[in-house]
Amino acid sequence: MDFSEFCSRLLENTDIVKLISRYCTLRRTGNTFKALCPFHSERTPSFGVDPNKQLYYCFGCGKGGNAITFLKDIENIESIDAIKMLADEANMELPEFSGKSAPKIDKQKRIRLFELMREAARHYNENLRSPKAAAANAYIEKRKLPSNIVTRFGLGYSIDYTEIITYLKSKGYDESEMKEVGLVGQSARGYYDLYCGRLMFPIISSLGQVVGFSGRVLEKTDKAKYYNTPQTELFDKSKTVYAINLLKKRRQHGPLDYLIMCEGQMDVIALHKAGFDTAVASMGTALTQQHARQIKNYADKVYISYDGDGAGQKATMRGLDILREQGLTVKVVQLPDGLDPDEVVNEGGAEAYRKLLEEALPLTEYKLKKLRERYNLSDRDDRAKYAAEAVAIARKPDNPVETEEYLQTIATETGYDINVLRRQAKIAEPEEEKSEPSEAPKEGTFNRYRIFLLAAYIADREYVRTEDMTEIFTDGLGKLIVDSVTDSRLKGMKDVSALLYSDLPDEYRNQLTPIIEFDFNDLDSRDMYGECVLKMKIERLSRERNELMKKFDESKDENLLIRSEKLKKEISELRSNGGKND
Ligand code: UTP
Ligand code: MN
Repeated sequence: MDFSEFCSRLLENTDIVKLISRYCTLRRTGNTFKALCPFHSERTPSFGVDPNKQLYYCFGCGKGGNAITFLKDIENIESIDAIKMLADEANMELPEFSGKSAPKIDKQKRIRLFELMREAARHYNENLRSPKAAAANAYIEKRKLPSNIVTRFGLGYSIDYTEIITYLKSKGYDESEMKEVGLVGQSARGYYDLYCGRLMFPIISSLGQVVGFSGRVLEKTDKAKYYNTPQTELFDKSKTVYAINLLKKRRQHGPLDYLIMCEGQMDVIALHKAGFDTAVASMGTALTQQHARQIKNYADKVYISYDGDGAGQKATMRGLDILREQGLTVKVVQLPDGLDPDEVVNEGGAEAYRKLLEEALPLTEYKLKKLRERYNLSDRDDRAKYAAEAVAIARKPDNPVETEEYLQTIATETGYDINVLRRQAKIAEPEEEKSEPSEAPKEGTFNRYRIFLLAAYIADREYVRTEDMTEIFTDGLGKLIVDSVTDSRLKGMKDVSALLYSDLPDEYRNQLTPIIEFDFNDLDSRDMYGECVLKMKIERLSRERNELMKKFDESKDENLLIRSEKLKKEISELRSNGGKND
């Protein structure tokens, strides 16, 4: 089936307002909806959703698109996955795609690989009921995991080296596919289950796809305690938040006040068991922007609950800053020496952990405390160094009141005059102000004439001639738009703008919004069109002529000069015709 046609039908069957309102609070204003942009931090809403056009756009950061691109960006997934999810919701079967903008075969194959993973997870889980799973069940009991928790997390067991392979083959999958998703390895003796003998934790995306596994050994061995799916087509550790799938379900019962971020699966599971059902984990890896953005989709506040001194490590501190830079309020849970959340809950119950949450320190306070531990404040040199570093931490460019409070504390601690600290704060190297790359739409690449012409073509104004468009737009974004719109029109589609977004490569998407949202006002006329076409044609011919002249300078080829003269004549004819206004 033709890919564009399918997307077009899918977009028609998708309610973009309903979709987006799962991620932010939309308020109706006239025919459109407004919200705080989910893609950048802002205090006043510049994000709009237009249900008629089935589009969204942000005047702040320039992000815009249709339901497919929204899901893709907000969930950090591939287009094909977004399409699959929307299709599921619209009860549309996903066909094999054809057409020039169809996703590549290997992207389409993802769907099948996800099904393989789900099948594997289901089977590992069923294995727990096998008589061969005695060791796994004994372990589950030892870790005090009740059966509802085993079910909620879909835990499972890999019985031996080949059992899962036999099973998946009976379901029509082949070993090379199993290898591709990181389930099996290959040796001289053939394929084998990489997780043999391990307790299985499926890792599930926010869309409910099984993207990977983590497997724990049941007893002490010299093998790694946990084996995780390596980077595959489906799995990327730096993007994945363990248990995020459960947040989505949890949120259906109301907004989440906070999340708890742990290091490992077992901690998440123990916390859920104790009733803290917004616990997630970063799976033993440093926090990234992508983690932070996903978290931010669910709550504004996050408790970091890394064991022992996990949170104090430099790499982790950077991770905490990343969370804060995304606009999250970060608090650090201070676990008793050497304990992890799992142990706290199993020893002291939910109450013990609740108390730790209450005593959690705001990120800045936590950092100051860690810093203090490194210095001896009764030593003069140490005091000076501490004061300087502490001021740098305390400094909040966007919150002078808070800064002042911390400065007071530092003054008391060190005996320095508050005015000295204030002055220090002014000069302190503003590490947190390192400007983030701006997501503002690029300007200058597109001039007013181009925008008008493309907007008029997309809006199907009767004065636009397709021949002009193909003549004028011969490369880049312009050509992509013209080709896509022409193609859609040939197929008889009416509203082409929504579809356009998924037809374009990502790097062009932000440039599309000003075109789609172009405000015609009094510009909307045949005259304006004629003027723009003329300007564009003249511009193009002049460019060509310049090229020729440059070449002539190098080669002194007379023919080039003749062609250039011809162009010159054409240009002046166009100019005088333009003056007569056709
Ligand atoms: P921990 O060693 O703290 O494990 O690793 P844990 O969660 O307390 O597990 P239990 O209680 O011993 O079962 C934290 C996380 O780091 C990753 C895993 O994601 C683990 O949950 N990890 C740890 C690995 O990937 N490989 C390892 O060998 C160990
Ligand atoms: Mn543990």
